[in-house]
Amino acid sequence: MRIDIITVLPEMIEGALNCSILKRAQDKGLVQFGLHNLRDYTLDKHRRVDDYPFGGEAGMVLQIEPVDRCISHLKSQRDYDEVIFTTPDGEQFSQKTANELSLLENLIILCGHYKGVDYRVREHLVTREISIGDFVLTGGELAAAMIADAVVRVIPGAIGDEQSALSDSFQDNLLAPPVYTRPAEYKGWRVPDVLLSGHERKIAEWRLEQAHERTKRLRPDLLGR
Ligand code: ADE
Repeated sequence: MRIDIITVLPEMIEGALNCSILKRAQDKGLVQFGLHNLRDYTLDKHRRVDDYPFGGEAGMVLQIEPVDRCISHLKSQRDYDEVIFTTPDGEQFSQKTANELSLLENLIILCGHYKGVDYRVREHLVTREISIGDFVLTGGELAAAMIADAVVRVIPGAIGDEQSALSDSFQDNLLAPPVYTRPAEYKGWRVPDVLLSGHERKIAEWRLEQAHERTKRLRPDLLGR
């Protein structure tokens, strides 16, 4: 899979893509990232990529030309399945979206800008608009990094133990059960006996029960989905 990210702040994303599981996934050849500085695609001699909005509102708006030039350049190299735009008024990102996107070959993620982009970008160049939640970030960079992270970790082989991505919270609309490690007792706080019993069926039953109990208590909305 290939993910190309278009941004005015590549340095804000670079670190997130180059450590831990995302770094390992690149090293294993499971994903290739391209980071593209929008300023490299402007024809403006001062490398400006935004301008005042028509109609006279406050704030600057990303111009369509550098965005179109960058996307056209990428599309001349390969076909893309989606051109995603990160914006607080997009569809809500979820585990289901991450799973879906992980099956695609090539993605572009265009990072939103704090005041917005020329709406023609959204009308003509973008195929999908995604929000990571009902709050406003200063730009779409952190959202793009989060989407890339959530997508890449579910690519088979990205996580050492393949089972573990499948047993994440949200994979079956259930929160994950608690996990513990040694020591079995610390300051008198004990790990549940069943986990020490070695009884596989009982452990599996306990985990499922715990997942249901935690979901009912903390996220009852998931159970109706
Ligand atoms: N850009 C600013 N806020 C955002 C959000 N909540 N989701 C996606 N992109 C954004």
